[in-house]
Amino acid sequence: MDFFNYNNGQLFAEDLSVKELAEAFGTPLYVYSRATLERHYRAYADPLANQPHLICYAVKANSNLGVLNVLARMGAGFDIVSAGELERVLAAGGDPARVVFSGVGKQVGEIRRALSVGIKCFNVESIPELQRIDCIAEEMGLRAPVSIRVNPDVDPKTHPYISTGLKANKFGIGFELAREVYRQAAAMQHIEVVGVDCHIGSQITQIDPFLDALDRLLVLIDQLAEDGIHIRHLDLGGGLGVRYNDETPPLPTTYIEALRQKLGNRQFELVFEPGRAIAANAGILVTRVEYLKEGQEKHFAIVDAAMNDLLRPALYNAWQAIIPVTEHPDGTTRSWDIVGPVCETGDFLGKDRELTLKPGDLLAVRSAGAYGFAMASNYNSRNRPAEVMVDGSERYLVRQRESYEQQMAGEFTLPGQ
Ligand code: LLP
Repeated sequence: MDFFNYNNGQLFAEDLSVKELAEAFGTPLYVYSRATLERHYRAYADPLANQPHLICYAVKANSNLGVLNVLARMGAGFDIVSAGELERVLAAGGDPARVVFSGVGKQVGEIRRALSVGIKCFNVESIPELQRIDCIAEEMGLRAPVSIRVNPDVDPKTHPYISTGLKANKFGIGFELAREVYRQAAAMQHIEVVGVDCHIGSQITQIDPFLDALDRLLVLIDQLAEDGIHIRHLDLGGGLGVRYNDETPPLPTTYIEALRQKLGNRQFELVFEPGRAIAANAGILVTRVEYLKEGQEKHFAIVDAAMNDLLRPALYNAWQAIIPVTEHPDGTTRSWDIVGPVCETGDFLGKDRELTLKPGDLLAVRSAGAYGFAMASNYNSRNRPAEVMVDGSERYLVRQRESYEQQMAGEFTLPGQ
């Protein structure tokens, strides 16, 4: 459920007309709904209210400071994968003590910075990383809190590019090795074992893969207890899918209830790292039709947003709904390929969409709040779009449209002639 709805044929973001937002801020434009972000956060937090928990929003899904700030005010924690994400969390008012640090390539400076601000936990993905964290913590005279990211080898049944919990993936430490790595970690002087972590993939639309992963982790947790290693939290990662088209992902409450059944009376804090489930349907990308072009076999609507603004269709052949900002109930509908100006055949936002269009019309690409702007680039030297947060009948510019000066800042021509 989100707060992008039609009212008298006009698309609204909460109480504001999307057409007026596009006129005020230009296009392409990302529009986010604060009420939707908060609703999705609560969909996780409410069913967990009676037990220790932490919802660490996965910053990579949408790292805009305005978005992070809305979640920080709700008491969210954050899952980060770089020092850049950590700086964003801090700048947005997030609490470092609620930050978990995932990712296979943590650099020395990143580990140092995370230790100095006092993050909750490193989700460690390899033995060399564990050794590196131990060394840095020793230099700093600290003990570093860690979980091992365990790769439970379950198939999340999602797109291969976003499956992460299979043996063939680069992520985590194999289930068979994990007990031994925990023993090593527990013996390190500057490491404090605090949890167990896993993340099996993204856009998962069934509960079973999560439950299979949990079964394996519980076996490990029991083995660790036999070894005298008692964990304080279990981090089940993110990955819960959303509805882009006709998917029927479980609701967070159904998912959490199913986990709870398996967990019984076990007493540890439950940590989640949702990104998409919180942000995807809290954002739209608004774009204007520049030209309607008759190809030899297809009708093309050339719009002012492109793969550099929203990469998912080009990269994963992902389907996202494209809807008119102003409905034309009487016009003639045709099947359009909605394409951008970038010089690549793969530059499309949607194919074969039944729409009534004329040049100058505004369209909204739905479900663009996660992995939308976050994956935007300057390809074809296009300025990245503006981002606006709607809050009831208020709106806040949370990122100004990039200018050419900003795009070229930090680049230089060669000296001399
Ligand atoms: N935790 C870790 C360690 C992750 O790697 C990810 C996502 C998440 C949490 C959040 O997963 P979510 O709840 O959003 O599914 N660009 C792709 C998605 C890549 C996801 C990468 N990792 C897309 O646009 O579909």
